[in-house]
Formats: sequence, C-alpha cells, structure tokens
Amino acid sequence: PLYKSIPFFMSSYRYGIFLDNTYKTEFKFGTESRDYYSFEAPGGEMIYYFIFGKDYKEIMKQYVDLTGKPIMPPKWALGFAQCRGLLTSEKLSYEIAEGYRKRGIPCDVIYQDIGWTQYLQDFEWRKGNYENPKKMLVDLKDMGFKVVVSQDPVISQANKRQWEEADRLGYLVKDSTDGKSYDMPWPWGGNCGVVDFTLPAVADWWGTYQQKPIDDGIAGFWTDMGEPAWSNEEQTERLVMKHHLGMHDEIHNVYGLTWDKVVKEQFEKRNPDRRVFQMTRAAFAGLQRYTFGWTGDCGNGDDVTQGWGQMANQIPVLLSAGLGIIPFTTCDITGYCGDIEDYPAMAELYTRWIQMGAFNPLSRIHHEGNVAVEPWLFGEESEKNAKTAIELKYRLLPYIYTYAREAHETGLPLMRPMFLEYPADMETFSTDAQFMFGSELLVAPVVKKGARNKNVYLPEGTWIDYNNKHTAYSGEQWMTVDAPLNTIPMFVKQGSIIPQMPVMNYTDEKLVYPVTFEIFPAAAGSETTFSLYEDAGTDLGYLRGEFMRTPITCQTTDKGYTLKVGTRTGEKYSLPGQRNLMFCIYTEQMPKTALLDGQKIKKTNVGKLEENRETEFTITAWCPDKKQETCLLRLPDDGKEHIIEFIY
Ligand code: NOJ
Repeated sequence: PLYKSIPFFMSSYRYGIFLDNTYKTEFKFGTESRDYYSFEAPGGEMIYYFIFGKDYKEIMKQYVDLTGKPIMPPKWALGFAQCRGLLTSEKLSYEIAEGYRKRGIPCDVIYQDIGWTQYLQDFEWRKGNYENPKKMLVDLKDMGFKVVVSQDPVISQANKRQWEEADRLGYLVKDSTDGKSYDMPWPWGGNCGVVDFTLPAVADWWGTYQQKPIDDGIAGFWTDMGEPAWSNEEQTERLVMKHHLGMHDEIHNVYGLTWDKVVKEQFEKRNPDRRVFQMTRAAFAGLQRYTFGWTGDCGNGDDVTQGWGQMANQIPVLLSAGLGIIPFTTCDITGYCGDIEDYPAMAELYTRWIQMGAFNPLSRIHHEGNVAVEPWLFGEESEKNAKTAIELKYRLLPYIYTYAREAHETGLPLMRPMFLEYPADMETFSTDAQFMFGSELLVAPVVKKGARNKNVYLPEGTWIDYNNKHTAYSGEQWMTVDAPLNTIPMFVKQGSIIPQMPVMNYTDEKLVYPVTFEIFPAAAGSETTFSLYEDAGTDLGYLRGEFMRTPITCQTTDKGYTLKVGTRTGEKYSLPGQRNLMFCIYTEQMPKTALLDGQKIKKTNVGKLEENRETEFTITAWCPDKKQETCLLRLPDDGKEHIIEFIY
C-alpha cells in the first residue's frame, strides 16, 4: 500500500468503482459494517466512476477506456533478467553475462542498481566501477544482453553542481515552511532535493540528463523510490512538501506517475520509434500508459531461507497488480530481503521461486546488497531445475507475446486470477496459490517448504497435465498432483493451441525460427483456435498496424482432425526470413492419411521431419508417432491459407 495506490475495485455484483482522487483514500470493506462498505478521501473532489459490466473482463476493459491502454513492452523484456543491489560494476556485469552464456541458461537483461551512477541523479557512470561503459554495453549487446539502469527522482546535495542548478531553476519540491528546496533524507547518497515533475519545465531538463546513458547504449530504466522513498506513514513531517501542482498530501500518490510520464515522453521524444522500457515501484491508476511495474522489496529479511510465506504472498500481489492494470510486472525473484549465508539451505526456496517467477511477465531475479542470486550458485540440482524453468518460459515466448498484445489492447493481464476466466465458479475465489497464464494454461507453482505435491483446483472442462501430456482430469474438482523439485504443476485446457519457439540464449538470438503449435484438440464436433501475434519487437510499429496474425484452427471431426492455417492478417509487417510451421497434435487415435489442400502428404519419421527445419523450406511432411501419441506435421510458412486433413 505504500508503493502503489490504484483506487479501483470490482464487485462480484458485476460492477467496478474507480475513485478518481489522489489523496490518501481509504476503502472500508467489512471493517465498519456488514451491510455496507465505504470509501473516502480527506481532500479533493468526490469523483468516482461506476462501471457496469457483464463480467470482470468487461469491467476492466471499461476501466482501461478511462485510464489508458498499457504500452507494449519490447519483446526482450519478456525474457529473463538478472539483478542484484550491488550489481553496479563493469566487472560483475561481464562475469554474470559470461556465467549465463557459459551455462546456456537463457537471459536477456542485466540490470544495474542505483550505485551505477556517480551521484543521484547525474546519470554519469560511477568512476572506478566502470572503465569503459560504452564498450561494456557494446560487448554485452554482442552477447545478447540489454542493460537497464536504475534512476531515483532526486538530486543529492553532495552533487553540488546539479543540485545548485536544480535549486536555482526552481525544479525541486519546496518546503512550505520556509520556501526553500525541501531537504529530503534519502537512504543513500546523502540528503537530497526531490525533483518536482509536476512542473512542466522539468521534463526537458530531466530528459537531457537521462538521455546520456541512452546515448551510451542502455536499453531502459528502472524507476525506483518514487513514493518518494516513503516507508513509514508516520513520517507526516514530509507533508510540508509543496509541489508546483499542490501540497504533498495531494501529490504523494501520483508523484511516481508524474515522473514516469516524463521518463516515457522524454524517451520517445529523443529516441523516435523505440519502445520505452521502464519498470517502476511507485504507481497510481493509469501508470500503464507509461511504465511497467514490480512489486518491490519482499522476502524474509530475518531469515531468508524462511521466506516461503513471503513468496506465496507474491502470487496474490501480482494477480492484484494485474487487476489494477499492471499486466507487465514481476516480483523480486528470491525475495530481495535478507543475507544468504547458507546457499544449499536456500536451494529449495530458490528453485520454487524461479519456477513461480518464470511466469511473471518480466521475470527478474533480484536481491539486496551484494547477495549473489545467479542460478548456478545454489548447487547442481537447483541450477538444472532453474534452467528448465527458464527454458520453459523461452519456449512459450510466442504464446506470451501474443498475450502481451492482448494486454496492450484490453488491459487483461497475462497472470490472471482464476475468477477472471471462470467468474461463475465460486470455488475460484479461494485459489490464491495458482493462476491462469493466458486463457489456456493453468499454473500452480509450489510455494510450500518441503512440498512434493500440490493441491490444485481445476475449473470446468477437461485439463491435461502439461508435465505428462497424456493424462487428463475432469474439472470442477480439487486434486493433488505430484510436484517433485523439478516440476511446476501446470495444466492446459482441452481444446487449446500453444505456440512455441525453440529455446534460445536470448529472445532475438534468431529473428526467424520454426514456430511449433502444440495442439490439444477439442472434444469431437468442436474446434480450437489460436491467433499468433508477431511484430518487429522493439519499435512503435505496433501502434501503426505493423504486425501480423496467423490464425490456426483445429477441428475435431468423427473422421480425424481438420487443421486450418488461416489467412494471415497484416500486410504492413513481414517476417524477416523464411520458416517452417511445425504442428504437434496430441491424439490417442492415430490418423492414417494426411491431405494438404486435398493432396496427399508424404509420411515420414520423426527424425526426418525435424531435419534441417531451420534451413530447408520446401518439405511438407507428416508423421504419426504412436509411442508418443502425437501426430506431427511440418509445413513451410508461405503466408497463405491451407487446410490439412488428418484422417483415421
Ligand atoms: C529499493 C528497491 O526496491 C530495490 O529493489 C533496490 O535494489 C534499492 N532501492 C536500491 O536501489
């Protein structure tokens, strides 16, 4: 509650309320009365929007109409990210980058925490820590890493030149008792002046400073401490702060938002046609127009190995963030707080945290101080399990990216509380240790110490165990599934298509690659469909219609399956090369023949079907694999419509 204030809630009576008030709002649900709830604010106007909708998704869409669409993250942001409090040097950045590549563990982003900068907030590389930052950024780029650096919204008084400049220009928040720049105690870098982002002139001033590391080659910002740095509500003496647009009691909740707006708008102004990456801690309703989020410091600081409850708690926090339209978010994987003295003792929690974090859209591993939390530090087994979880995320990237586009259009998050998909099923309201990942996948990470199984609720329908794709369960029941340390309990709904890519070291290691569609056919007489979304990944073309969709439909008939590769939409974007489409239908009954647009397709074996699939684009073939109970197809992607019939 101290980081983010999103005064919006939804009721099971099919309405939502957004209280458009920036003061310290209070919502009293059941604390005052059993008959009514109330909400209030000590100042400002009583403006609230009552949003009626047929279900939660519709209410959220209307809330998005009011507060804005989420920006699309660059594709690389959906890969894995590594951070650490003292990851603030060239040497360590190289070591970590090499560590990932040497072990073949996928990773896209390396963060630099606030100590990267010489002074708050001059955006200069800290002398002694960085010999040649530009070269470091080029080298890391060549290895497939993007670098994101932290910024705080303050100017340290130790940073005399910039502080005096800001003070002279009147760009710092004032102390209303004496009219001087407010003297803000800050956890590091000495006392500071708080930059007043509500003052329009500040935008370009800040934009000029923040452009320096962008010109050096960084890929984005991590906007931290934008509350600003307020961790104790009792410190009311800070309410003397006076911003250009109002006193601090009015501005506090939106302070971070005013900063994020500047960071984004200045980024776009000075770096045309590039997607901004900004991940922020302090937020207010509407942040999605400017920034992504993370949940802030969590974990058990007293005994880091006992952070199980804190990890479990991150699931509802992330789901709640999603409902507040922060679809692109992560927790600090490993929990941030607490020294790790005994790495083997932390291994189990580490593994489970990575497994849950793999489904956080922005998956970032982060810990305080110089506490190292790279995946290879917790023992061999833990490294292997972490790698498996991270690889799964990379395999699912085409699925994830399609949902990222949906999040941009509708606000719907990727990590969804069960009730968002199954609002009529009251049981889903008591599931806070599992979630939907998109509409097709149900993920139930293990969040209990020592647990080797997991109690999962499956809503209506038939659910296939994603770890054992030939086992299906009927829904509307709780059940216990095995969950050894190497397993993330996961289910896919019968009647789903999941697009995937080959595992890569980083998301754009290969610009074109075979896309594999795993098909879990619908019941006889029904069909399933998925429309794969693709675009260039880093530019603003997605706002200009520069993207394409490939609709795949699979109909289950009494004779077999009819697979349709539908007409591709989107002429403004074309793939940067040729590729094959691969299909894998899970089926007990094996087809005998396959036809492509009425012509028989050559039958082959699995080895041949896969051979040269990244370089040879003329072969259409299929293969029934009785042992695996799968039916495979390879089809060169010519962008045209095709009908493939598999006949028993
Ligand atoms: C507070 C943030 O929450 C944490 O993630 C970060 O490491 C520290 N600030 C230092 O910048």
